[in-house]
Amino acid sequence: MLNLKLKTIASLINKDDIVIDMACDHAYLAIYLKKNNLAKEVYASDISKNALMNANKNIKENNLHIKTYLSDGFKNIPLNLNLNTVIIAGVGTTTILSILKDLPANINKLIISSNNDYELLYQEMFKHKFYNTKEIVIKENNKYYPIILYTKDYQKETKLTLKYGKSNNLEYYNYLLTKKQEILKHIPHHKLLTKYKIIKEIINLKKLIKEKTLDY
Ligand SMILES: C[S@@+](CC[C@H](N)C(=O)[O-])C[C@H]1O[C@@H](n2cnc3c(N)ncnc32)[C@H](O)[C@@H]1O
Repeated sequence: MLNLKLKTIASLINKDDIVIDMACDHAYLAIYLKKNNLAKEVYASDISKNALMNANKNIKENNLHIKTYLSDGFKNIPLNLNLNTVIIAGVGTTTILSILKDLPANINKLIISSNNDYELLYQEMFKHKFYNTKEIVIKENNKYYPIILYTKDYQKETKLTLKYGKSNNLEYYNYLLTKKQEILKHIPHHKLLTKYKIIKEIINLKKLIKEKTLDY
């Protein structure tokens, strides 16, 4: 059974997409996409030999044909696959940004789910003209995961969206607010600048939550 994060990623794939699941690990997502005919073609890759062996075993057990690649990012991915969609999920923002340095120019759709440093991700993707077209934040095993569909279709951003993203998940924003309020309680009085920065973030988060609430 596919977990919620991978199911949510699958919901962002179109039938005519030619997609690679990079950092596929077990290849559960690629298998799900292929088995349910959710994409025109599906490929999978991973940097780890063990992960790829496991992926190939799972693909075989499902009687499917999915071409897999042992590859650090795009390094061993042939250019003639005609990919238009790349999924990178379950790794950190630094790894994602480093993989995207080799992104072939014809790819116009990315589905990204980072494990950390979301603000850096939002800002760098915008700088590189990939626009946050749809963002869904899910909660799994008590952790929140933003899942972002990036395209080359321009989308407006603000200081707040480049910091906190564009999802409509109020529970997530309230969680971030509570976390900041907790941190503030433990900052010593003399650390004025740190206190000031956190208070500013709390004000911004409250503003964002108010805006999102009014949207409904
Ligand atoms: C936690 S798993 C993620 C599995 C799946 N994508 C998910 O989101 O559930 C992380 C995988 O990323 C792979 N990985 C890490 N760096 C990578 C890179 N530069 N290129 C390809 N795969 C990478 C690891 O080998 C590992 O299998």
